[in-house]
Amino acid sequence: MSSRKEEDISSRKDEQIKICLENDVVYENVSNGYKKIRFEPTLLSELSIDDIDLSTSLLGKKIDYPLIVSGMTGGSTKGQKYNEIIAEVCSEFNIAMGVGSQRAAIENPALSETYRVRSLAPTIPLFANLGIAQFIEGYGVKEAQQAIDMIEGDALAIHINPMQELIQKEENEKLTSSKVQLFNLIEDFDKPVIIKGVGRGISKNDASFFTELNPFAIDVAGAGGTNWAKIESYRNSELKYLSSEFLNWGINTARSVNNVRSYTRKTNVKIIASGGMWSGIDAVKALILSADYVAFALPVLKAIAKGGKDELRSFLSSYIFEMKATLAFIGRKNLKNLREKGHLLIGRYFKFSD
Ligand SMILES: Cc1cc2nc3c(=O)[nH]c(=O)nc-3n(C[C@H](O)[C@H](O)[C@H](O)COP(=O)(O)O)c2cc1C
Repeated sequence: MSSRKEEDISSRKDEQIKICLENDVVYENVSNGYKKIRFEPTLLSELSIDDIDLSTSLLGKKIDYPLIVSGMTGGSTKGQKYNEIIAEVCSEFNIAMGVGSQRAAIENPALSETYRVRSLAPTIPLFANLGIAQFIEGYGVKEAQQAIDMIEGDALAIHINPMQELIQKEENEKLTSSKVQLFNLIEDFDKPVIIKGVGRGISKNDASFFTELNPFAIDVAGAGGTNWAKIESYRNSELKYLSSEFLNWGINTARSVNNVRSYTRKTNVKIIASGGMWSGIDAVKALILSADYVAFALPVLKAIAKGGKDELRSFLSSYIFEMKATLAFIGRKNLKNLREKGHLLIGRYFKFSD
């Protein structure tokens, strides 16, 4: 690949981050789908925050909370700084993290450093990241392994983002053979793979196909949070009149999780709820309604931009406090207890509406 193209990939990522920080890049009038559901609270819970244990395991590693900071960045000096801060703080909280698309470093190994955070987070689950578009262009097991080795990762997330590819101003990748590429990769690659959306949601058809491939996990990245069609439309002046209906088209996170669950129920495929999961109480709703883990991206980026490590620590502390307080208020002391006993959810049957 020409160095011009490598530079383009790095600066594209920096530009996307700038847009996320300076513009409204979230869905309009589409929530993550959990907003209409409320837990019936109790005044008589006998649990305090200190009684709550949210620990679980992920890829054979114990984590203190079922939380993942989704992959966002790398490939530039700025990206490296974000990755390092995320790694250090995730390690302190003992939660998982992903790095952003490593395409830039596969094309130009000098950029590998911008993704390498293992020394800052020696024990947490760490996810490598590539797009299905790269596999359609010719990547295979070799590049998948390279991405994992580059960061000493535990799994590879493959993101699928047809809407973004379509709208972005650079050359559009054609995602017409995604199915066969995913099938081939998962068949041939012996490391855990996470099939990952980037904020548009998972239909029942997609859920059925993904589950048949038997990946380690499906990360739904539903509608309701960061909206990549919007981000790319800010960058592409030729498409600045795209309609709100088009840009806000997607399947919300609650519904996406439900779609995936209807196929994974009898399998070991894990479900990651993401896409606008920016409050601890919504995280608990997702966990009670079948998600194994909860992930988020944009609020982490914003916290770091605002106040670096300390602000990210504050965000995570509040989030975790909210999760623990929710469990205490509904009288569930750990995740097993939460899943086995469930809880009365007011408005549960509205969960599919935005
Ligand atoms: C600035 C930014 C960069 C992102 N870059 C990537 C990426 O390189 N690879 C990827 O799989 N997802 C990427 N995402 C998508 C997130 O991982 C996540 O799936 C999505 O933003 C939904 O989560 P959220 O609503 O909490 O932001 C990015 C998101 C943001 C905000």
